Amino acid sequence: MRRSNPRVATLAKRMTPDKVAIRIVGVSHQFGEATEARHVRALRETSLEIARGELVCLIGPSGCGKSTLLNILGGLIAPTAGAVEVFGKRVRGPMPHDIAFVFQENALFPWNTVFENVNLGMVFQGVPRAEREARAKRAIEAVGLQDFPQHYPAQLSGGMRQRAALARALSLETGILLMDEPFGALDEQTRMILGEDLSVLLSRTEKTIVFVTHSLGEATFLADRVAVFSARPGTIKKIVKVDEPHPRRPDFVTSAKFTSIRNELYALLHDEIRKTMAESSVSAAGAHPP
Ligand SMILES: Nc1ncnc2c1ncn2[C@@H]1O[C@H](COP(=O)(O)OP(=O)(O)OP(=O)(O)O)[C@@H](O)[C@H]1O
Ligand SMILES: [Mg+2]
Repeated sequence: MRRSNPRVATLAKRMTPDKVAIRIVGVSHQFGEATEARHVRALRETSLEIARGELVCLIGPSGCGKSTLLNILGGLIAPTAGAVEVFGKRVRGPMPHDIAFVFQENALFPWNTVFENVNLGMVFQGVPRAEREARAKRAIEAVGLQDFPQHYPAQLSGGMRQRAALARALSLETGILLMDEPFGALDEQTRMILGEDLSVLLSRTEKTIVFVTHSLGEATFLADRVAVFSARPGTIKKIVKVDEPHPRRPDFVTSAKFTSIRNELYALLHDEIRKTMAESSVSAAGAHPP
């Protein structure tokens, strides 16, 4: 009987090099020097290959290094060990032609309209003026804001602002989108609709997406694979596959498959959070003997 090794399973062995969008090899990260009392080991020996067109969700206890990993993928932080490749190129800094970001708190300029915000992203990326208008229009339509290009962020709902931030990222036409809890500040219903829309977008493009979330339902609904992290210093504890084509239908949420995957994620995370709490109470007891 063949048994899969969970460490090796995180490296998709069957993926041929041309299919790989992101290759993460033995990445660890520590903030500060080991000699400094305040140093933090955020991430340890993490490896993963992500295919072109795949959506991978990262979930794990708070502080386990998800955002750190995302920032490393995007070239915003250099890892203290290991390496990342994007489309076969070693990441050594931001790669604005290949990678776009969407964060939880959208970084729209309040004094610019939706259209201007989307346009500005392209100005920074160096897209020629002649192309910008058509691309902005396409991206704004893709997120359903075609009736609001002249609105300012303050005139939009939270969900619409995140759509605008997504439009800005889409207009950059990068192969990779890194999303850090992009819908985290929104109510459950808005989040659900944005998730459905993202799944439709995904089915129409070849984008590779890495998506950090705390919502197990959101991860199950969106991901092709979910990488579950252990507590800090985090590493991938298990990869859970969600074998369901995009665009995912709203009734996927009520299916037995959805419930079973969500429950599996819950059990994996729950164990991890319990372990962290047990460890911290042991060390607290050690620090303050009775
Ligand atoms: N710039 C920094 N300087 C020092 N420590 C940092 C820095 N950024 C993150 N850390 C620490 O690294 C660890 C991992 O942080 P990170 O933000 O990656 O976690 P996370 O998994 O994204 O958490 P959350 O789910 O709460 O967003 C945390 O202990 C955090 O305090
Ligand atoms: Mg985070």
